[in-house]
Amino acid sequence: MRKKVTVVGAGNVGASCALRIANKELADVVLVDIMEGVPQGKALDLLESGPIEGYDVSVTGANDYAPTANSDVVVITAGFPRKPGMTRDDLLMANYEIVKAATEGAAKYSPNAIIVVVTNPLDAMCYTAHVVSKFPKHRVIGMAGVLDTARYRTFIAEALNVSMENVTAMVLGGHGDTMVPLVRLTSVSGIPLTELLPQDQIDAIVKRTREGGAEIVKYLKTGSAFYAPSAATVEMVESILKDKKKVLPCAALLEGEYGINGLFVGVPCKLGAAGIEKIYELKLSQSETAELNHSAAAVQELVDVLKQKGA
Ligand code: NAI
Ligand code: 2OP
Repeated sequence: MRKKVTVVGAGNVGASCALRIANKELADVVLVDIMEGVPQGKALDLLESGPIEGYDVSVTGANDYAPTANSDVVVITAGFPRKPGMTRDDLLMANYEIVKAATEGAAKYSPNAIIVVVTNPLDAMCYTAHVVSKFPKHRVIGMAGVLDTARYRTFIAEALNVSMENVTAMVLGGHGDTMVPLVRLTSVSGIPLTELLPQDQIDAIVKRTREGGAEIVKYLKTGSAFYAPSAATVEMVESILKDKKKVLPCAALLEGEYGINGLFVGVPCKLGAAGIEKIYELKLSQSETAELNHSAAAVQELVDVLKQKGA
């Protein structure tokens, strides 16, 4: 039976996800957006690439959720980026309403789907999708760590002039400037990073990783990154659909792991057909634990705002 993926939000990240899913022939794709004609037009354009690229998946667009019925995976990218004059809380509440509507619509028609959340603020939007869908925690997963880790690996490979493929690393924590690149466990073909680069260069790479999203926004001015974010999202979707059981940093609901309770935070997860099949609890050093707690506190602040507003 063919797999089916719904991508909510046919903007930069959503359309790029649809393109990558089709190119890899992972599943039939339904793009959903509130903009009339946009998901339909982008879907048709993607479908017409099939004869050239050689894929046979169906790509359709809709402004409602009926056509999404029985999706295996639902990717939620619908939402605003931060606009001038908007506070963090304004963005939080605006995207809360959007993610709530997207989750309600998608969950109604695909009660057994796995939800992959992309919309920012990521960790708080995962919390929203979990509360609204009432799905079990292993079926609500946030994308951020794969992207943040890809940026970190890119900068390390550049600094050392080695293949990006040889850089093994993991970035944990919330998706923001408190994220936690695990330097101690970063290696290049097994060689510890700390033996390859001086501390000041490592510190600069960590800082650039934490500010990786802002670096792209500064160039683009009117939007945020979407090529690497869609690649990261589709790596997760592929691991689920093909039951590859990749171990990837994902935002997962923690219930005591790492001493954190009731929050979505980025941790190493095994992703397979059931969604999150295992959360790996690493032994962290004192300073790494402090950094992870600091990052979790930033997520907690946003969740508290949602709760205060009755969300
Ligand atoms: P975009 O503005 O290009 O696309 C967003 C789309 O959502 C628009 O087409 C809009 O019409 C649609 N939309 C708005 N309300 C909707 C609703 N109620 N139902 C369905 N669709 C709706 O934005 P882009 O660049 O695609 O980013 C989307 C989100 O992903 C943003 O919140 C962004 O911050 C986030 N993001 C998160 C990343 C991560 O690492 N977690 C990485 C990159 C982006
Ligand atoms: C990024 O990190 C905006 O969250 C997005 O590029």
